[in-house]
Amino acid sequence: MITKSKTTVLECEEDIFCGVNTVKDLKNATDLEKKHLPIITAPKKVKKGECFEVTVEIGKLLKHPNEPGHFIQFIELYAGDTYLARMDFTAKTTCPVMKVCVSLDHAHGKLRAFERCNLHGTWENDVDIEVTE
Ligand SMILES: [Fe+2]
Repeated sequence: MITKSKTTVLECEEDIFCGVNTVKDLKNATDLEKKHLPIITAPKKVKKGECFEVTVEIGKLLKHPNEPGHFIQFIELYAGDTYLARMDFTAKTTCPVMKVCVSLDHAHGKLRAFERCNLHGTWENDVDIEVTE
């Protein structure tokens, strides 16, 4: 943190709204991290070109608030850097859970999920997935 006269300026690594937040040590995760980490449920191995279901849930480890002043705005899913799906949410009336069917013709990298909280920024998690012939 840098203090210039009466103004405090946060460095990127100190500002939750800079970049993408991740949980480095899940066993010692804080409540803030548990509330925001996207939990991805998907098969570890899929067949090329066959549909499979992916579920991304926010607040699975610790319930996240869902009210007008504090809620999850969206979830996005990628395979590596390849965009797959997005779902937007409203406060109160929708729960931050995204279920999608996905078909991959080759490995793009890990399945990666991003979520955006209106008060706590963007968070990412990923899981390994293998695409077989
Ligand atoms: Fe939040």
